[in-house]
Amino acid sequence: MRLHVAEHPLVAHKLTVLRDRGTDSPTFRQLADELVMLLAYEATRDVRTVEVEVTTPVAPTTGTALAAPKPLVVPILRAGLGMLDGMTRLLPTAEVGFLGMVRDEETLQATTYANRLPDDLSGRQCYLLDPMLATGGTLAAAVAYLFERGADDVTAICLLTAPEGLEALRASVGDDDRVRVVTAAVDERLDEHGYIVPGLGDAGDRLYGVV
Ligand code: URA
Repeated sequence: MRLHVAEHPLVAHKLTVLRDRGTDSPTFRQLADELVMLLAYEATRDVRTVEVEVTTPVAPTTGTALAAPKPLVVPILRAGLGMLDGMTRLLPTAEVGFLGMVRDEETLQATTYANRLPDDLSGRQCYLLDPMLATGGTLAAAVAYLFERGADDVTAICLLTAPEGLEALRASVGDDDRVRVVTAAVDERLDEHGYIVPGLGDAGDRLYGVV
């Protein structure tokens, strides 16, 4: 597994405002969207491309186009939805699948309650969107799910990560370098409820309110 922490002053600034408990939902959504675009820029460095011929008003030349099959973007419901617009703005031709996973707050185990994904992901590059990599259970299950369907490589884009979650994911995928995590920061630890410390609280609630 490879880890990329996006170190950039704009990433740090936006993350700081997201952390602030005084930031309201509309501002949180806007900043999460902007932060995802910056992370997506890093996350798509290895997106597959092909050489194409293009003719400018001046001369023919060689350019770059995204290769087939199209990348697949998979937000993990519910909080991953808050990252979808930022991601597809950068990668508008990507297809979008959905994975609904919920964490049992007692056992911290992840279970899948919904999926809307192509059955066959052979040869596909996949981008999982999950704002908080906390215990790692949800993401490890999601990565396994995509590989079971034939995905070629999987990049998880997370606003924030905890060392425990990264370790759990590493334990699950081993040194498989087809798995990559791109994040704005690795925080200190998890608390006894599985929240990232200092973190930013419950990402779903901060995006959408408490339901
Ligand atoms: N999920 C969240 O939304 N926040 C955390 O801190 C951990 C898991």
